[in-house]
Amino acid sequence: MTADNTPTGLPADIRLDGLGLVLREWTADDLPVMVELFDDPQVDHWTPLRSPFDLAAAHAYLDKAHHNRIEGHRLQLAITTDGYEPKGEILLARTGDHGRGAELAYAVGPRHRRQRLATRAVQLITTYAYDVLAMKQVILRIAHHNQASTAVARSAGFELTDSEPITREGSLHPLHTWRHPDDAQAAADTIS
Ligand SMILES: CC(C)(COP(=O)(O)OP(=O)(O)OC[C@H]1O[C@@H](n2cnc3c(N)ncnc32)[C@H](O)[C@@H]1OP(=O)(O)O)[C@@H](O)C(=O)NCCC(=O)NCCS
Repeated sequence: MTADNTPTGLPADIRLDGLGLVLREWTADDLPVMVELFDDPQVDHWTPLRSPFDLAAAHAYLDKAHHNRIEGHRLQLAITTDGYEPKGEILLARTGDHGRGAELAYAVGPRHRRQRLATRAVQLITTYAYDVLAMKQVILRIAHHNQASTAVARSAGFELTDSEPITREGSLHPLHTWRHPDDAQAAADTIS
């Protein structure tokens, strides 16, 4: 499932198979498809990615993803059903004390929505976060009116917490916290 680790402990090369999906590393060959997936009003409205999202933006995004990976902050994988064609992205960022928590984020291209791609990707990477990365907690941060993302959270088995909504640079809306019920300790201990 994993290859060499980066110095800070995130595997350098990941491929996750299961639930009819293959989550794999982005490559430079994917840049035109990234434009197709992310240059979208819903992505612009609900995520930190702004439209127009052109090839230059895709280049910058991939560079930043590689940097964040090397630094051990986050991993970003293409969501595919065949190991090749990217249909969206699932992102895992370290959170909390000692980076033992994971926050997930996701986007699915407009042509590929409503096929449970986001739900399955969240379920697959949540299992990976607990079982392989030994995370203590997995959370989502979702704007209240983002009905699609809220439905994904519910569908993937997450529960809305009563934590105060947070505001974050790049996000146009306050974000509510959802926790996965398998976390090892009370959510309040490690959510930061
Ligand atoms: C949110 C998003 C990733 C959902 O992806 P998806 O692959 O279409 O979601 P799924 O097919 O897994 O749908 C899961 C559930 O959400 C529901 N759903 C999906 N889109 C919906 C919508 N626009 N409105 C209401 N419910 C919706 C599905 O019916 C399904 O419900 P069910 O489990 O009861 O059958 C996608 O709409 C997207 O990329 N949006 C823009 C980016 C974004 O909002 N990212 C999340 C930021 S927190």
